[in-house]
Amino acid sequence: MTARRVPAGPALGPLLLLATLLPGPALASEIVGGRPAQPHAWPFMVSLQRRGGHFCGGTLIAPNFVMSAAHCVDGLNFRSVVVVLGAHDLGERESTRQLFAVQRVFENGFDPVRLVNDIVLLQLNGSATINANVQVARLPAQNQGVGNGVQCLAMGWGQLGTAQPPPRILQELNVTVVTTLCRRSNVCTLVPRRRAGICFGDSGGPLVCNGLIQGIDSFIRGSCASGFFPDAFAPVAQFVDWINSIIRRPPALPPARPGQQDPERGAARVPPPAPHRPRPTQ
Ligand SMILES: *[C@@H]1O[C@H](CO)[C@@H](O)[C@H](O)[C@H]1NC(C)=O
Ligand SMILES: *[C@@H]1O[C@H](CO)[C@@H](O)[C@H](O)[C@H]1NC(C)=O
Repeated sequence: MTARRVPAGPALGPLLLLATLLPGPALASEIVGGRPAQPHAWPFMVSLQRRGGHFCGGTLIAPNFVMSAAHCVDGLNFRSVVVVLGAHDLGERESTRQLFAVQRVFENGFDPVRLVNDIVLLQLNGSATINANVQVARLPAQNQGVGNGVQCLAMGWGQLGTAQPPPRILQELNVTVVTTLCRRSNVCTLVPRRRAGICFGDSGGPLVCNGLIQGIDSFIRGSCASGFFPDAFAPVAQFVDWINSIIRRPPALPPARPGQQDPERGAARVPPPAPHRPRPTQ
């Protein structure tokens, strides 16, 4: 539900010509052409919800931290977000679920025009109970990303197609990492020989490669599952040092000087008036 179009900027470099002939990049991540996941096969998978409805995916990366796409919460009042862990069928009342509120939001220089640094960490208002249905994902080491040809799995609760309703059951899709038509500031994937991929809808979900979270669903170009442009993810391996600096920091250190704001990158963000509010698509 957070799809929106952004102008094709110079950041897309050699793709600019094609990107201007086609519609601009679109923030995305519904799964087209995937299959239902086994219940709780991916216990780190998170549904971000507002007013009872799913709007973005996310990944549990610590008992009290969820990683998602920055554009998912850009311009939202994060206090309206409910973090749902342990879900599989969004149409059922599942006893496996654990619900949390967002206490604090950490960004790392998200640029909504160039679509870089599309990563956000959501600090929960408590710690998840780790069990068979709710588990913390594994991240790569800093700069240990994935190269061309690596097989990965994308997943999400987004729509199954542009004109179709969202599925209740978590969908998964095998994808292949590609480096053509892809910037160094993204990880990109394609599905060879058929039309499948992420699409308009809920972004923020994980790209899992060899058991590690290597990407966060960020945007598509052209159309959903165009069969030509790869899908683009935020490159998690480029952010691991920053992630660890947030999730491993000691809790609640008293401020060095009373009344002073923490000036560092990644400090809590006050919800802005938001010129880039995502536009609902349904
Ligand atoms: C955290 O937020 C959830 C959802 O709003 C609420 O049900 C829960 O009681 C809160 N937990 C704590 C420890 O405040
Ligand atoms: C699809 O992904 C799953 C999970 O990663 C893997 O076990 C399976 O071998 C993959 N299938 C193909 C055809 O690559």
